[in-house]
Amino acid sequence: MGVMLEVKNLTTYYKTRMNEKICSVDNVSFTLEDGKSLGIAGESGCGKSTLAMSVMGYYFPPLNYEEGSIIIDGREITSLDPDIIRTTVLGTKIAYIPQAAMNALNPTRKIIRFVEDVMKAHGTGLSRQEIRLLAEERFAILNLPPKVLDQYAVELSGGMKQRTVIAISTILSPKVLIADEPSSALDVSSQKIVIKLLRDLMEKGFVRAMLFITHELPLLYNVTDDIMVMYAGEIVERGSAKEMVFDPIMPYSKGLMNSIIVPEEGTRGHVLQAIPGAPPNLKKRPVGCRFAERCQYAQAGCHSGTVEEQEAGKGRSYRCRLSEAELRELYKKMEEGAKKFPLISHTFVDEEIGNLKNPIEQKTKFSAGTKKEGAVDE
Ligand SMILES: Nc1ncnc2c1ncn2[C@@H]1O[C@H](COP(=O)(O)OP(=O)(O)OP(=O)(O)O)[C@@H](O)[C@H]1O
Ligand code: SF4
Ligand SMILES: [Mg+2]
Repeated sequence: MGVMLEVKNLTTYYKTRMNEKICSVDNVSFTLEDGKSLGIAGESGCGKSTLAMSVMGYYFPPLNYEEGSIIIDGREITSLDPDIIRTTVLGTKIAYIPQAAMNALNPTRKIIRFVEDVMKAHGTGLSRQEIRLLAEERFAILNLPPKVLDQYAVELSGGMKQRTVIAISTILSPKVLIADEPSSALDVSSQKIVIKLLRDLMEKGFVRAMLFITHELPLLYNVTDDIMVMYAGEIVERGSAKEMVFDPIMPYSKGLMNSIIVPEEGTRGHVLQAIPGAPPNLKKRPVGCRFAERCQYAQAGCHSGTVEEQEAGKGRSYRCRLSEAELRELYKKMEEGAKKFPLISHTFVDEEIGNLKNPIEQKTKFSAGTKKEGAVDE
């Protein structure tokens, strides 16, 4: 199985009008194999979208490339001219569905025009009729009837708009698709449909590998093979979706998994141990462990030096000064000592969506997609 995307030591930054440098992607490395999907989780402002934009190799102000390598389908793209990237990489090798893309469709143009634009920009040489036929075929895969092509964005429901954006973005069969919070603006049933369709696109081979970004960890569990957690521009933990959700090692990932809002009967909006505080300001590269200010296990040494990633088995690593055994011991003590919140059983398997590749043993119940900002304990 080949590697579709390989990112090595990638660092990118924003340059503000005040000439400040905000390093939102800091020395990030990962690989994405053919046929696989990788989820990226992390709080708001951790650099998920910046990473997504950065791996396309197409930079424009205020985002800048500093160093690192990006190999898409065997081709190193960081040394390519932006025009070459635009015409030969974007859309065909890698496609990005930005956050809130569905609201960015120009309301005064028919949907078919967007498809024609993409085809023209890539010099496919297809006639209008051929483009229409191709569009009808692809739209059908995303459960969109042909008449959508003659409609305007305002005439479509949220779910249809989202699917239209996906259809347009993947019309050139990109090797890698990056979906940035593709479903957060939708109601739960539309979210499920979008997830199912993204998976269908991959299973049918229109997309070979996928990066999926969301705050919703249960969604990642249902959609992706592996998950990386980002914090303050760095990858702080990675592993299989199952390991990351049920058995996180690093304190931040642990906090992130514990702070999932459980929308179950009687517990709606109930936050399980939210992480106090906020991520650090990236205008100054934080010293020591970037999570130290908020970590309940922080020790004197955590506030200085750098914290390297530690291996924890095949494809598994985490960034913390403590060993896995030390961390597990601390978690055990914490759980024994403070049974403050009763354990609420929840599942990360949605009966309707099913689970992509990880058979689940933990038979608990969870329904995704009703996250509320700032919810408090009841
Ligand atoms: N255009 C910009 N100019 C300067 N700084 C920016 C810009 N866009 C993002 N940033 C900063 O980069 C950091 C990472 O932002 P990014 O949007 O990548 O986070 P995110 O993880 O995608 O967050 P969210 O979950 O809210 O989408 C943040 O500190 C943010 O303030
Ligand atoms: S290095 Fe220290 S502060 Fe950082 S996560 Fe580990 S224990 Fe917490
Ligand atoms: Mg984002």
